[in-house]
Amino acid sequence: MAKIIAVTNQKGGVGKTTTTINLAASLAMADMRVLVIDTDAQANCSSGLGVVKGSTKPSLYDSLIRSLPLVEILQDTELDTLKIAPADRNLSGAVVEMLELPDREFLLKRLLEPVLGNFDFVLIDSPPSLSILTLNGLVAANSVLIPIQCEYFALEGLADLFDTLARVRGAFNPGLSVQGILLTMYDERTNLSAQVRDELKSHFADKLLDTVIPRNVRLAEAPSFGKPVLLYDIRSKGAESYLRLAKEILNHEKKGIR
Ligand SMILES: Nc1ncnc2c1ncn2[C@@H]1O[C@H](COP(=O)(O)OP(=O)(O)OP(=O)(O)O)[C@@H](O)[C@H]1O
Ligand SMILES: [Mg+2]
Repeated sequence: MAKIIAVTNQKGGVGKTTTTINLAASLAMADMRVLVIDTDAQANCSSGLGVVKGSTKPSLYDSLIRSLPLVEILQDTELDTLKIAPADRNLSGAVVEMLELPDREFLLKRLLEPVLGNFDFVLIDSPPSLSILTLNGLVAANSVLIPIQCEYFALEGLADLFDTLARVRGAFNPGLSVQGILLTMYDERTNLSAQVRDELKSHFADKLLDTVIPRNVRLAEAPSFGKPVLLYDIRSKGAESYLRLAKEILNHEKKGIR
């Protein structure tokens, strides 16, 4: 059965999509069967994995709103064991339409159930909000991976996110755990990055992942070629760091923690 990880932070631009794409690709390189679910109408995760924009193929919208089975919307990527359930612009309307549906918080969870046997990991990319789409991801997930950008206001909003997680546990998904907090866009030349790291360590101790993602231009360039960084520049610091993250998470699984 697949382990389902939601990559979530309601703060925008912290590296959720970059993390989803590159962690998924790194796990696939380690022979894991990986499914990425793009729940963001911006569809950056889809285009970053090579899905062509503006195609008429069905998307996650059709599965959520028209109950189209997930297998019918899955698309291949350049990596054999990595599939994606793509987003498109329609998803922004889904936020309103879903509010009318019964069990609206459980739609993604139900869609995933029939395919979980076919994958080792499901990674869910979330939009920068605490909308019903984000909630669907958190209800479906076993754990949440929280990317945090190394910047001055890094910890702002984190308390809200932890409140939300507590509420999701109470109302919908008691088993939801924290996979880890991931520092992104780390710049070892600045004191600020080190300060953010120290502060997170003192607040969250073991929840802060050992792997840190450096600021690396290759990570920012790769999506414009529709590729994960591993297929764009495998020797880059960015590629190296996401391979390390995959190893750390596989280790958690082996030890049965999180
Ligand atoms: N480690 C990194 N080094 C350099 N650039 C990065 C890194 N991580 C992300 N970026 C760039 O920063 C921007 C924001 O990253 P990303 O899209 O992954 O964040 P996000 O949290 O998904 O954003 P949103 O909230 O809009 O969905 C992108 O342009 C991305 O290419
Ligand atoms: Mg994103």
